[in-house]
Amino acid sequence: MRTHYCGQLRAEHIGETVSLCGWVDRRRDHGGVIFIDLRDRSGIIQVVSDPERTPGSYQQAGDLRNEYVVQIAGRVTKRPDDSLNLRLGTGEVEIYADRIEILNAVRKQLPFQVSTAETETVREELRLKYRYLDLRRERMSQNLQLRHALNKTIRRYLEDTEGFIEVETPILTRSTPEGARDYLVPSRVNAGEWYALPQSPQLFKQLLMVAGCDRYYQIARCFRDEDLRADRQPEFTQLDMEMSFMSQEEILNLNEGLVCHLFKTLKGIEISQPFPRLTYADAMDRYGSDKPDTRYGLELVNVSDIVKDSGFKVFADTVAKGGVVKILPIPGGNDLISNVRIKPGGDLFKEATEAGARGLAYIRVRDDGEIDTIGAIKDNLTDAQKQELLTRTGAKAGHLLLFGAGDAATVNKTLDRLRQVLGRELNLIDPDKINLLWVTDFPMFEWNADEKRLEALHHPFTAPNLDDLDDLKTARAQAYDLVYNGFEVGGGSVRIHQPDVQAQVFELIGLSEEEAQNKFGFLLEAFEYGAPPHGGIAYGLDRWAMLLTGEESIRDAIAFPKTQQARCLLTGAPSSVDGKQLKELHVASTHKPKPVVPQN
Ligand code: AMO
Repeated sequence: MRTHYCGQLRAEHIGETVSLCGWVDRRRDHGGVIFIDLRDRSGIIQVVSDPERTPGSYQQAGDLRNEYVVQIAGRVTKRPDDSLNLRLGTGEVEIYADRIEILNAVRKQLPFQVSTAETETVREELRLKYRYLDLRRERMSQNLQLRHALNKTIRRYLEDTEGFIEVETPILTRSTPEGARDYLVPSRVNAGEWYALPQSPQLFKQLLMVAGCDRYYQIARCFRDEDLRADRQPEFTQLDMEMSFMSQEEILNLNEGLVCHLFKTLKGIEISQPFPRLTYADAMDRYGSDKPDTRYGLELVNVSDIVKDSGFKVFADTVAKGGVVKILPIPGGNDLISNVRIKPGGDLFKEATEAGARGLAYIRVRDDGEIDTIGAIKDNLTDAQKQELLTRTGAKAGHLLLFGAGDAATVNKTLDRLRQVLGRELNLIDPDKINLLWVTDFPMFEWNADEKRLEALHHPFTAPNLDDLDDLKTARAQAYDLVYNGFEVGGGSVRIHQPDVQAQVFELIGLSEEEAQNKFGFLLEAFEYGAPPHGGIAYGLDRWAMLLTGEESIRDAIAFPKTQQARCLLTGAPSSVDGKQLKELHVASTHKPKPVVPQN
């Protein structure tokens, strides 16, 4: 049916007779000459029909409407010099349509115009409901194609250059240790028992190392029932990897090779190695985040020691109670950011309080070098203390210093949020910059205040730093995340392969031996039969695709994503099921549907 794709045709094809298939992107009738933009996956080409040059197609050309499916046979011709379209790859040529066959019509009113130029403002709900139309659009079609290229490049590199083999692991399985809620599937044949969908292939990939696989990878679907955001989906895809007999250094090095290869192949960009690294402690200290966007400065400065003895009670009490006082210094902020925005009711104040802060103190350095503060700070910091704050933060005339005071977690969250908002607002982020950063030395555990117990920060199979074995509670882990322009795009660790260390970790997170056996007994038993030292990493492929396509939501890098409410608007999932089906599954619902209120 077809000799070429639309987007392939160039000046070198002039004079050839071609047959093309695709959709009518737009049809324009210029009084006697009809122009059709014909679209397929590869792009758009202009087709021309008029009674003189192409009498055989003029009638059908008149019948065409947007999104009709057609086959067009014609001659590739050079466009007149005054109608070249250099924005299109095919813009030097057009097709004189000798024959047009309508393969299918559009029988319903289109919910939105697919034609590229007109669709950027369509509501996302409508795009998701008619996703098959949305995906015809050039932008989305290119996103899908880039995602495909990403998968393909990964496979080629890992298999052909690094000797990995792909192994599929079960989807119907037991709960995995990633810490989100599980999606559960009731078993029909085993009444009262449930499968969990994997939050990641973590346990299986470790078993594959015991099995001697040596280097495993999988492009794996994962399921996590957690609150959704622009970079999170309930089901998402990981590039999951595990390697035996490799140290953390060797694992990071191999992965840098992969990442450099991806940028080179997909974007033609050279990334230099080794990637910069920050320890978790430094990242939190300097940016208040374990996934800092280091494309711009605005680093935080800890001033707890300077203000701890000040007369300003909020600061002094905070430090006395073990909290911290930190400053976000903003060069030029004095002119750019008004008091209204920082005081109660202002947008920056709101950002701060939404992150948990109770207030937002500040100091302004006037252009003449005079220091201007408000209320209690003004009267309760000595000149020497104010001066020290300026020296420590490097503040000069025009600076605005925003304070965070409280427990370290809240202060970091607040100032990280303000840093991001202001970094964007003040145009400090170069969109063309690519910043890749390893964050290393995560703590093994964090305190779960609700459950009053330690929790594994990564997962309970992560190995401690060998220098910290004396006190596991405060140990650093051999765990690492890869951060790309402020997004966590991957994370992994070296695993524990010694049963005694594993037992200590379970004990510290309050998992009794019996519970550990019950949950992970099969893995622990496998480790008794000769487990090699091993470690791995998993990348969020949806996030990679989002960043590489320049999108702001992972939904735009996934063919059929779910909404923030975890719904598929196209299929209507999730939906209710037949009582008979539930009965077969030995499941009874406790859900009580809201009574339907009669209208009027
Ligand atoms: P982790 O939980 O850090 O590690 O996940 C790895 C990467 O997966 C991506 N990711 C997500 N992407 C979209 N939606 C989500 N809901 C979501 N959750 C995570 C992130 C993240 O960096 N088994 C370990 C890996 C290992 O230790 O080897 C794991 O799953 O980009």
